[in-house]
Amino acid sequence: MTDRHTLLSSIASEADRDISIASLFEAETDRLSRFVMREGPLRADFSKQALDDAALAALLDLAAKCDLEEWRAKLFSGERVNTSEDRAVLHMALRGVGGTAENKAEVAAMRQRLADYADAIRSEGKFKNIIHIGIGGSDLGPRLVADAFEASADQALTLRFAENVDGASVNDAVKGLNPAETLAVVVSKSFGTQETKMNGESVRDWLGEFGSSNMIAVTANRDGAEAFGISGENIFDFWDWVGGRYSVWSAVGLSLQIAYGPDVFADFLDGARAMDLHFRDQPLQENLPVMMALVGIWNRNGLGYGSQAVIPYARRLRKFSAFLQQLEMESNGKSATRAGKATTLTCPVIWGDEGTNGQHAFFQWLHQGPSEGRYGGAPVDFVAVLKDHEDRPAHHTALLANCFAQSEALMLGKSEDVVRAEMGGHADVDALAPQKSFPGNRPSTTLTLDALSPNALGHLIALYEHKTFVQGVIWDVNSFDQWGVQLGKVLATTILDEMDAGQSGIHDASTTALMQLAIS
Ligand code: F6P
Repeated sequence: MTDRHTLLSSIASEADRDISIASLFEAETDRLSRFVMREGPLRADFSKQALDDAALAALLDLAAKCDLEEWRAKLFSGERVNTSEDRAVLHMALRGVGGTAENKAEVAAMRQRLADYADAIRSEGKFKNIIHIGIGGSDLGPRLVADAFEASADQALTLRFAENVDGASVNDAVKGLNPAETLAVVVSKSFGTQETKMNGESVRDWLGEFGSSNMIAVTANRDGAEAFGISGENIFDFWDWVGGRYSVWSAVGLSLQIAYGPDVFADFLDGARAMDLHFRDQPLQENLPVMMALVGIWNRNGLGYGSQAVIPYARRLRKFSAFLQQLEMESNGKSATRAGKATTLTCPVIWGDEGTNGQHAFFQWLHQGPSEGRYGGAPVDFVAVLKDHEDRPAHHTALLANCFAQSEALMLGKSEDVVRAEMGGHADVDALAPQKSFPGNRPSTTLTLDALSPNALGHLIALYEHKTFVQGVIWDVNSFDQWGVQLGKVLATTILDEMDAGQSGIHDASTTALMQLAIS
């Protein structure tokens, strides 16, 4: 097999020519039908990417040479594709797709237990508030989904989150709540995460006499949760084949089930299941997550972009870029291949914020800023919701108009000649025209959801999960480990012990001075 450096440099060679996106629309009258894909409520428009048929053919050839179909089959069959941790990767089994008979049985039993528990809490009426304690994958998914469920579902209990070890996180979570009416859900796959254990202890102190009865745990480390003081019948398990950043579909979503109801959560799982089946069964050239991944490879390895913006034009998806930062950067932000060799360029920086807010902040850079990418700025994924869930049609139309205008402006730009013509004989035309012109030809994808339903949200998140997997296969990295988070954790433990003891230990001069500032 040809090595990845050679394969990916052939993509760079293919991309080393000027492609005008606007001209592609003129030349290809059927461009829209060829570059738009749909799965259920999710439509993806890739037509504003700097991508033509030759590029697409090269990318599909790359996918074949990287054995993508074989890797996809391995993933769904439950093979141990997380090689460095020797684990299968089966978050799709939580949605009823893939895995062994044993996986299916344990998932079905747990789904029933979670739904029964959520129903009981909801009908009992004792609890009015939930504090969900967890960080990273034990926080970002539930937090994103809770915001998004607000569009279409009724929240029966107040749902607060405590993630950061900063005391402000716990203080904000408990503020104004009555311990007698509050259920704390401690969520940690490992049950070894410093932030979560400390927040769990502080919330237990705050619960006072209700500490043991008002606290449950969600974990893949039952012993750890018991050692923390949570009794066995209050522990909800998940499995080592569910990665933290892929875990919102598991018992990690229990707070969501309690707050919004098991039926809403089941719709969310069904939406992801539809995307799983699409990804598993569609040929590569008609496969939405594959297309999304290949477009990303084109922008990263072909056009040389170092970052990817994700801008949801939906306030209730405002955590989406933060969620994707973990999903994509923790999965594929790696420099060593599965075999321990140096990779070529892998995951770009993922960033973004909600539209329209971003238009009044970083869009200046998107439209006119330079970057190492061939056409400047950064590729953007726009995400819009077609249905108005807020009963404010004028606002909704304005929101969508802004979204559509931005992708058009990024593509079309405004040439210096046009600006000069508009300025006529202005005395400062030579100085001003370059400042007022827009290079354009900046690539974007627009994803639309028919509605922000739980089902559509399931489609959206699963789309990015599978995109991440495909890119990991092409970059030849293990997308399911995260060794890069370890070193800082270890050093933080050492530094914390030393600071607790009032000493600064042996460190570089800068670190020592910082520690002394804090302990003196
Ligand atoms: O530090 C990174 C990480 O290990 C993530 O991968 C994970 O989602 C997060 O910490 C939280 O881990 P846990 O669920 O084990 O507390």
